Amino acid sequence: MVSVAIMGHGVVGSGVAEILTTHKKKLFASLGEEIYVKHILDLREFPDSPLADRFTKNFDDIINDREVRVVVEVMGGLKPAYEYVKKCLLSGKSVVTSNKELVAAHGAELLAIAKEENVNFLFEASVGGGIPIIRPMSQCLVANIVYEVAGILNGTTNFILTKMIEDGMQFEDALKLAQDLGFAERNPAADIEGHDACRKICILASLAFGKHVYPEFVHTEGITKITLDDVKYAEAYDSVIKLIGKVKRLDDGRIDIIVAPMFVPNKSQLANIDNEFNGIMVRGDCTGDVVFYGKGAGKLPTASAVVADVVDCCKHLKTRKYLFWTDGDGKNIIPMEESVNAMYVRVKGDDVIAKATKAFGDVTEINRESDPQGETAFVTKQMPYGEFADKLENFKANDAEVLSFIRIGDL
Ligand code: HSE
Repeated sequence: MVSVAIMGHGVVGSGVAEILTTHKKKLFASLGEEIYVKHILDLREFPDSPLADRFTKNFDDIINDREVRVVVEVMGGLKPAYEYVKKCLLSGKSVVTSNKELVAAHGAELLAIAKEENVNFLFEASVGGGIPIIRPMSQCLVANIVYEVAGILNGTTNFILTKMIEDGMQFEDALKLAQDLGFAERNPAADIEGHDACRKICILASLAFGKHVYPEFVHTEGITKITLDDVKYAEAYDSVIKLIGKVKRLDDGRIDIIVAPMFVPNKSQLANIDNEFNGIMVRGDCTGDVVFYGKGAGKLPTASAVVADVVDCCKHLKTRKYLFWTDGDGKNIIPMEESVNAMYVRVKGDDVIAKATKAFGDVTEINRESDPQGETAFVTKQMPYGEFADKLENFKANDAEVLSFIRIGDL
């Protein structure tokens, strides 16, 4: 029997406790011994839980219990998760977490402590909910030189954009629905401003390229400025708007990493990933494109990934799984001004295409049915963002009111 503790009994934590209880026999068959939930840490009372007798409000009950070999951290946030996880690793307990904020902020340090203490620190559920992605990247694709990872990494924003695209729903109504369905973060700003997707692409970039990428190094845009008009112009351009997290290795070894809404061509594998689903495309030199798809949020999908890590930790109590990257200083990341994309631009004014051609060179006008009165939209050629920004200023100076601009994804 292996004793484990679960810190947090919210959406994911209760799912972990549920699977460990309802799938006991299935897990026993895989591990060859029982996984026993000895403590559940939460400040709230859960008298009706079948595990009601295991609840504690005191972290010391876990850290001081030498029988507990694996600790699950599903509290979310950094305080007190960071301190608790660090203490668990330092006291020789393996840790499993779904906490992307924690891994994105402190992953390199916690991995180094786990290595030093010869225990495991696993976080499959931190990216893509129930989709296997960390283990496939660190094990199954290890023979590849990965040169790009791009994905729809946030279920809430994908749900909102899908409702805008398919049902013509307004942004606020779609967000409310996502919150009611339980996909959104406690503070949905982390979803709609792109920070949640940023944490996830930081984790994947760190894993793919071996150096920690901190969220503050990454240019991040959310979806709050996307309008139904942009959605319709995208449709006329055979594309859909998706919030994309993307990292690409350039020929000089540096990486280009960004989180932003993008036009995704309908023919892209990522274009049909809808609602709360996530999709992650990994481009490897041997495999070509490999795409992972599934539920990126929600209680049981996320708990499924956590429990898989628990089983893996229980199977490797005396050995360390190789999952590691070193600390990073951001010097391997190109400035956003150098990042190359074509751009969609929506403008109010007269003679827009003539003025746009003067400012940007050749552009492609997007013709959509029932264009809003006095508006024109076009797509520029590919150019570095810094060049685009300079040209946009010249364009605006020529009496053009720019309503929005969105990157065209090369996906
Ligand atoms: N708020 C997150 C999402 C939850 O919507 O994807 C899963 O990380």
